[in-house]
Parts: sequence; structure tokens; C-alpha cells
Amino acid sequence: MMDEALQRELIQKGRAFTKGDGREDPYPDFESDQSLRRPQPPLVKEAMAGAEARTALPRDFEALGMRNDLLGVIRDRRSNRVYTDQTMTLLQLSFLLWATQGVKGIRGKAYATLRTVPCGGARHEFETYLIVRKVEGLAPGAYHYLPMEHALEFLGPVEDPEGAVERSLMGQKWAAKASVVFYWSMVPYRAEWRYGIYAHRVAMIDAGHVGQNLYLACTGLGLGTCGVGAFCHEECAELFGLDGEEEYVVYTAPVGTVREEDRAREQAFYRFVEDEGL
Ligand SMILES: Cc1cc2nc3c(=O)[nH]c(=O)nc-3n(C[C@H](O)[C@H](O)[C@H](O)COP(=O)(O)O)c2cc1C
Repeated sequence: MMDEALQRELIQKGRAFTKGDGREDPYPDFESDQSLRRPQPPLVKEAMAGAEARTALPRDFEALGMRNDLLGVIRDRRSNRVYTDQTMTLLQLSFLLWATQGVKGIRGKAYATLRTVPCGGARHEFETYLIVRKVEGLAPGAYHYLPMEHALEFLGPVEDPEGAVERSLMGQKWAAKASVVFYWSMVPYRAEWRYGIYAHRVAMIDAGHVGQNLYLACTGLGLGTCGVGAFCHEECAELFGLDGEEEYVVYTAPVGTVREEDRAREQAFYRFVEDEGL
């Protein structure tokens, strides 16, 4: 069992992290790099592969014929962990990428991107990576999303993708049947440049918006997803060649094809509640 005093100390650190600014600022000398007029970091990560590795993504989202009853979509959003292992279309994946990180415009010459999700200070400190298993028109393997171009770049094949997904998500076997798995990394300096020591709390709030848009977009398309916070930081970094310090994965989400009959099997996730009389 963990030392109780250490546990209390760590919990206090966690609480302090989520509290944000107090009435009295404990660090009145802090100045952000932005206020010190240090150069702004790039809005997005540079392409990681050559132009020949790029797939432009379709944008004719009207053709998806998705649900547009907002009330029902919000009501029906839920986590799906049982997938039917079918192939998704490229247009579906394109919509999910646009819904989660799509760029709608640029403020100033290159001051900020405006996207489909809100973000503290419009810093948009995330990058999107995918392990694709079954998406029409895409070779299986690792991909990086280029939000400015709304394109995907192929980073290379992944040996044993099901095993790689399972290992990277701490042994969550169900995720290996996803058609595609989203891995969102954070490039912390993009947010730190503006918010410095306060950047990280804001960034975690930002990540929630990205995840919720994925949930709602999947609900609209009749696909299934589940936010996953239990992932292995090192395995994820290795999958996409991230250095783990200036860029590291902060949230993941498998997406798969689903069918209504599996709803009952989904309930099994909470069977322990009944079994243990909770
Ligand atoms: C940040 C976050 C992390 C999560 N991590 C996991 C996870 O690692 N494994 C899992 O099976 N579900 C995970 N979930 C899904 C939750 O268990 C699920 O949202 C919750 O049980 C409520 O169910 P609902 O989404 O169907 O309403 C996560 C959800 C969020 C938002």
C-alpha cells in the first residue's frame, strides 16, 4: 500500500493543478513568453512525410446523410466498446477529423486558427494521429492529420496493428476491433507561450471538447467511440515517433462500426455494479 502521507501530498498537487488562479496569485512575478514578446511557435506541426505520402480528404459532408436532430444526438451519445469490425468510408473519417480539429479560418497573419472546437486562447495545442485498420481507400498503418490542408499523411505501416493498439491502450482488448484509433498529442509550448505555468490545466479542458465532438460526430454517423484515458504514454510516443517531452499523447479514442443488437453486450461493462450491489 502507498505511504498515506505521500498519497495525500500527490492528491493535493492534483487539486492545486485543477484549481487554477487563486484570489491571490501565488506567482506574481510570472510573465508568459507572449508577454515577454518571445516569438510565437508555429500554429501546427510541420508535415512529417513527403507530399507523395499525402491523401487529400473529401469535404462533401452533406453526402453522409447523417443525423441532424441535435436533441437526439446529444441524448444518444454514449460510449461504445463493441465493434463489428467493418470498414469505414474515407468521407466518414474525414468528417470525424474535421469535427475534432478542422480549421475554419486564421486570425491575423498566423496568430491563431479558429477550429470546430473551442480552445483557451485559440492555441490549439493538439496534433491528431491515427492507427488505421479498416478505412476505405487508406492503407492500414500510422497517419498524421494536417489540419491546414485537411489532409492525412501516411507515416508508415504498423506491424501487428491490433497488438499495437491493445498495448498502447494498456491492454484494453476491445479497442483492437476499432476501424481507426485517434491519438491526440499535445505540443505544450503552443499553450505555454501564452499561459506559461497555467497552460496545462487549460489544455486538459481543451482536450475534453475535442473528445466530445468526436462522440457527437460518431453518434451522428452511427459509428461508435469511447474516450480512453488509460493509455501507455511511452507506447503511444513510439508509435508516432514523438519525443515524449515537447510532444506527447494526452487522450485517445477508438472508433468502430457498431450495431444496435450489441447494446446489451455494452451494458456488460457495468455488470460489476449489479454484481457487487453498488
Ligand atoms: C477522459 C475519459 C477517459 C476514459 N477512459 C476510459 C478507458 O480508459 N477505458 C474505458 O473503457 N472507458 C473509458 N472512458 C469512458 C467512460 O467509462 C464512460 O464515458 C463512462 O462510463 C460513461 O459512459 P457513457 O460515455 O456511455 O455515458 C473514458 C471517458 C473519458 C471522458
